This record gives sequence, structure tokens and C-alpha cells, in this order.
Amino acid sequence: MYILGIETSCDETGVAIYHSEKGLIHHCLYSQIAMHNLYGGIVPELASRDHIRKLTPLIHECLKSSQLTKADIGGIAYTAGPGLIGALLVGAATAKSLAWTWGIPAIAVHHMEGHLLAPMLEDNPPAFPFVALLISGGHTLLVKVTNIGQYELLGESLDDAAGEAFDKAAKMLGLSYPGGPLLAKMAEQGNPERFKFPRPMTDRPGLDFSFSGLKTFTMNTLISTKQTDQDKADVALAFQKATAETLAIKCKRALKQTGLKRLVVAGGVSANTYIRQTLTDMTQKERAEIFFPRPEFCTDNGAMIAYAGSQHLKAQQSESLAIQAKPRWPINELYKA
Ligand code: KG4
Ligand code: ZN
Repeated sequence: MYILGIETSCDETGVAIYHSEKGLIHHCLYSQIAMHNLYGGIVPELASRDHIRKLTPLIHECLKSSQLTKADIGGIAYTAGPGLIGALLVGAATAKSLAWTWGIPAIAVHHMEGHLLAPMLEDNPPAFPFVALLISGGHTLLVKVTNIGQYELLGESLDDAAGEAFDKAAKMLGLSYPGGPLLAKMAEQGNPERFKFPRPMTDRPGLDFSFSGLKTFTMNTLISTKQTDQDKADVALAFQKATAETLAIKCKRALKQTGLKRLVVAGGVSANTYIRQTLTDMTQKERAEIFFPRPEFCTDNGAMIAYAGSQHLKAQQSESLAIQAKPRWPINELYKA
């Protein structure tokens, strides 16, 4: 069965078609980054309006490129939350309306569950059970995944998400929005010996994270320098190193605590090469396996939503006609009866 996936939770309009046996057929993405860049961050109302403009043409384009018509589609999966309420409503209302007129089911998908399952689109997908580290712009979560739909929250960020910390540190370094990938680029020129940043919350037990102190440390270190290009690169690398090592310490702890030997890392920040390498080195030492989505499926996309929707349909989970959009939606409340 062909499933259409729609992602509109933030600043990317993503559409994809996934087939339950043939796998991913096609995916299209429209990024609003250039528009929000003018304002130094996401403007929610502009995001909603742009999703309205781009979503329907993108659905047409995706069907056309897949050489399919609406009659071929058996279900429509959409991101129902968490995210920006206006942006979510565009995807949810479009998905529900199309599903109703086409006489097929609509499936509400949790955005972070989409990220969590993105590595399933790769040639060598992880087997269950595994520990998942989800690092995006809005969330930092450690989850024990026993099966599709069986998620136990092990830890989360008590303040800024990892991606948010990257973006804020990047702003301090004079980089434009979204700063995460630009900070990573700047860090390539950095001297790893110059600064040593703290690894927050690693000196006490537990699997929660805190990144706001690291942000302040970044600011204080930066203003103690002349802020030359080299100073900035050194600060960027120290920030990235501290974040990567903090994530690695917590993942190692989560693997130990659960007794599992498989780690999945997903969400926008998992596109970061330095973080991928640090976590890969840790899992090699621990004799554990590690799985990432390909970089384009680390950040928001329709493919992960189409895949998650296909799994829900397989489990015959259907929903009422009500349009679902939840700006806040804890992942551990996903499958509560
Ligand atoms: O998952 P995502 O696309 O959207 C949310 O669900 O939030 O994640 C976006 C976040 C942004 O904070 C962005 O700066 C960060 O992921 N990001 C990166 C990299 N690529 C994206 N952070 C560090 N290094 C990267 N290469
Ligand atoms: Zn995301």
C-alpha cells in the first residue's frame, strides 16, 4: 500500500510516498530557511502561510514524480505534533481533508517518533530493542525503544534542546539562522587544545541533559577573547566537543542501564559529522552497534512521517475525523490508553 506522508511542524514542508513492501518511492522538501533567515529565527505566522503556499504543489509534484495518482494512495500520514500550532494545523487540515475526500484513513504521527524511526529507511535498519538519542531543535530525548509504539523515556533536556543550544551559540558567534551547521563548519578551523568547556550533568547519576550553562560558558569565553576568526573557531570547536562528549557519556550510561547494545541517533543535530564520529567511537569501545539516518533524513522530512504512518496502519490504528494538532505532546504519552 502507498502512504502519503506530510510534515509541516516547523520550517520545512516535507512530502513523501512510502510503499509498505517496496519502501520509499519519492520525497520532496521545501525549506523556508531563506525566508526566516531575514529575521534571525523562525517567525511562526510566516511559517504557517508558507506551508499553505507550498504544501499542495508539493503533493502534486511528489505524486507526479512517483508516476502515481490519488487513486493509488491508501493512507495519509501527517505530523500532528509537537511543533508550531499554525504550521501543524496546515498539514493536519490538508491531510484530513484529502483523506476524507479520497475515502482513505488519515494517521496522526508524533514528530519525534518520525525522527526515531528515520533509520528504518536505510539499507541496514536497526533491530528492536534499542536506545534512541533524539537531538533536534526542540527536543533532546533518550528513549528505550522495545518495538514500534513501545517507548520508555529515559532522559530529556531540562532546559535548551541540543539544536537550540547550537543555534544560540552560533548566534553569539555572529552566524545566521539556523546556526547549527554553520557552527560545525566554523569549528573545522578550531584548535582543540585551546579551551576546555564543561560537560554538564555528567558528574551526577541520571540521564537528563542541561545545555543552558554551556551556552553561558560559550558567551563568557567568547567575550574574554578579541573575537578574531581564530578565537571564534576555537570557541565553536570547544562548544561542539563538549556537546558531543556530553551526549556520548549519557548514551553510554543509557546502554549500560538498559543492558542494550544498539544505539539509534536521529534528529537534526545527528547530521553533525563530529557528533556522529564521537558517538561512533563510543559505541565501538562499548562493542555496541550504532545507526543514523542519512544526513538528509536527520533534519525534518516527509519520508520519516510516511514510514511511521505505514507502521501505524499495519497495526490497524485508525482515528476519528477530528483534526489533531498538539503543539506539546510528550513521546511517553503516545500510546497511553
Ligand atoms: O530535527 P530538526 O530538523 O527540526 C526539529 O525538529 O527541531 O532539527 C533542527 C536543528 C536545528 O537546531 C539545527 O541547527 C540543527 O538541527 N542542525 C545541526 C546540524 N544540522 C542541523 N546542528 C549541528 N550540526 C549540524 N550539522
Ligand atoms: Zn524535527
